[in-house]
Amino acid sequence: MRDFKYKWEEFKKLPFGTKKKFFIRENELSYVIFAQQFDRKKLQELFALADKIRELSKNKAGADSLQNLLSHKRATLFFSQPSTRTFKSFYNACHILGIKTTELRDGTSSSQKKGESPEDTILTFASYTDLIIMRNSEEWLAEKASWLLNKKNRVVKIINAGSGKDQHPTQSLLDAYTMEIAFKDKKGIDGKTIAIVGDLKRGRAARSLIYIIKNYKNIKLILISPNSLKIEPDVRAFLKRNKIKFTETSDLKSNLNKCDVIYMTRIQDEYDVNNESKEIDYSAFHLKKSHLRLIKKDAIIMHPLPRRDEINIEIDDDKRAWYWKQERNGMWIRAALIAYMYGMQKEIMNFNSEL
Ligand code: NCD
Repeated sequence: MRDFKYKWEEFKKLPFGTKKKFFIRENELSYVIFAQQFDRKKLQELFALADKIRELSKNKAGADSLQNLLSHKRATLFFSQPSTRTFKSFYNACHILGIKTTELRDGTSSSQKKGESPEDTILTFASYTDLIIMRNSEEWLAEKASWLLNKKNRVVKIINAGSGKDQHPTQSLLDAYTMEIAFKDKKGIDGKTIAIVGDLKRGRAARSLIYIIKNYKNIKLILISPNSLKIEPDVRAFLKRNKIKFTETSDLKSNLNKCDVIYMTRIQDEYDVNNESKEIDYSAFHLKKSHLRLIKKDAIIMHPLPRRDEINIEIDDDKRAWYWKQERNGMWIRAALIAYMYGMQKEIMNFNSEL
């Protein structure tokens, strides 16, 4: 055991400024729990690394060199909430880097069924593997895992792939990476007007995106949601504290012409306590084909997916529809993040893509 003096309750309450140093071990980013861990410099480095990994993956020589990098590492994908793209993109990101993967996708085939606590399950994964990528409904579990493993001498890394209603930090990385690509020739993300639409109260993708947006200058946020699904007061306080310009409205249509980014999200009804989503008319937060004429011609439409009816499928063929590219970007940025967490950045950037 290392000398790590905090009890969980104490650790949880530490101010972010104090806590963040515990997410770095042996000079490597070891626990990715919150979107606030990423500053602009780190984002730029990750984007460049993702571009490079994407480029190298185009040919066998490049792909082979990437696969040699972390072939001595093993990862556990511990996903106890449903997931398609986050799971698949992490799984494939690991394979791009040569990391071997095992997975646990629900409790029925594990000792959790016998009453084992999630904490003990995590300690068990840590006994066999070097990296745990986890998605759970418990908002605190990924952070608690970082606390649990901080006590151990051997570093086992953690990535939060979605912590209940709270955060989805790697989603915000792929969202920012997608905007960076879309606005490369349009002065980047700075100065853009970004609408985030839908369930802003319970959407972890929306919350993490708001934290990431803080890294960009002169952003105007338009937060469009049903009245009962507005951002939580702590997010509002974050926006004010960081002097980010924002408006809150429930009117999608009349705001569309102002936006450079329209970020749609689905209603998060899995978190309903009393079927309250049934009372909400969410159709006013759907993007329809008839809306396209209202949207700027170089705007982009995004969605973390899965979608229900938030974006009509006829919109998929419009050149402003970026959500399928956004989805694929998730794999590259997650590979970049894992490589970065293992200090492989310089090595990859120095690989010759012309091989
Ligand atoms: C999001 C999630 O799980 O939070 N999906 C994803 O990871 N791409 C958004 C959602 O499920 O609505």
